Amino acid sequence: MRNIEADRIKTLPTSIFSTMSKLAVEHEAVNLGQGFPDFDGPEWIIDEAFRAMKESKNQYAPSAGIMSLRMAIGNINKKYYDIGWDAETNITVTAGATEALYCAIQAIINPGDEVILFEPYYDAHKADVILAGGIPRFITLKKPAFDFNANELEELINPKTKAIILNTPHNPTGKVFTNAELESIAALAVKSDLIIISDEVYEFLTFDGHSHIPIATLPGMAGRTITISSTGKTFGMTGWKIGYACANAALTDAIRKVHQWTTFAVNTPAQHAMAKAFNDIENYLPDFRLKYQRKRDKLYEALLQTEFKPHLPQGSYFIMVDLPPDRYEDDIEAAKDLVINHGLATIPPSAFYTKSDEGGTMLRLCFAKRDRTLESGIEKLKRL
Ligand SMILES: Cc1ncc(COP(=O)(O)O)c(C=O)c1O
Repeated sequence: MRNIEADRIKTLPTSIFSTMSKLAVEHEAVNLGQGFPDFDGPEWIIDEAFRAMKESKNQYAPSAGIMSLRMAIGNINKKYYDIGWDAETNITVTAGATEALYCAIQAIINPGDEVILFEPYYDAHKADVILAGGIPRFITLKKPAFDFNANELEELINPKTKAIILNTPHNPTGKVFTNAELESIAALAVKSDLIIISDEVYEFLTFDGHSHIPIATLPGMAGRTITISSTGKTFGMTGWKIGYACANAALTDAIRKVHQWTTFAVNTPAQHAMAKAFNDIENYLPDFRLKYQRKRDKLYEALLQTEFKPHLPQGSYFIMVDLPPDRYEDDIEAAKDLVINHGLATIPPSAFYTKSDEGGTMLRLCFAKRDRTLESGIEKLKRL
């Protein structure tokens, strides 16, 4: 039988999320692995989706997204970051941030182009670069602060480098990039004429006074940045898969060229509901943040009492923990032992590293879970 797989997909691994979630189901484990809430987003947003369906908003949306949602996205960017994205020419609604990432990378990467990723990376970032025929290059965010060396970043840049993929607040480390760090990345992007793809899906989840800064707001960056976000994270409805990309008109045209041949348009009633949700975001955000801050504190403080020492996250809904010394060979062994023998699913982060083996020393836990899920997870870790 002829080889059915295209060459470009041969090196793509099965997503670690599918592998761990399957094991979690098989072993009826408490799932602190995959990154989504085990509770619903607000009921009033669900009601808005129903209303849209009842009001016959059930056919294809415009390819770039319904205008009221694009305008709402433009408004929140103006309000929170003082950045002026135009609904007509700068904003594209996609099937989750996942599709925005795919379209953005397909839109700008030629085979052989190099793309720099900070590791640990969100695994779709690397897969998307490979799917576009690009070559991923890596710079490691090193423990304990998950910081990087700007000289090392500069050394990675060469004439083949086309883009840097950034993710802040960062999955899986919880790092929120500082203004100084973003400035150093921006300076290199300007100097070497690079595009920044900035994945900001956790933009509204920052803690302890850390604030999220979109790199597009730095001088000279709005014209060379594709900013990607997701209503799934902001409003706790990951299954609705409504994301978006904001960029200047030329980059937006390129993204839309791919988007029209990928999904063309995304779920209409959910877009209507999200337009309403963004219009009321000011009332929604304080409780949302407090709820997640409490969950982070609960898990973090409990972890301090276990052998799995946590790194305090500044943002996102993840906590990285160090493995107890000498107990496990690596993160894969630890994650398998926890899920199979102790009923707790986690994510082994070595799946998010290519260059460094630091991932083998940690596990990723997600705290976007009901209190009782967190409590049973903590119980299992304490009993170890
Ligand atoms: C950093 C990051 N980017 C993108 C996504 C995907 O977002 P969406 O569900 O909107 O496709 C996730 C989801 O976990 C994520 O953590």
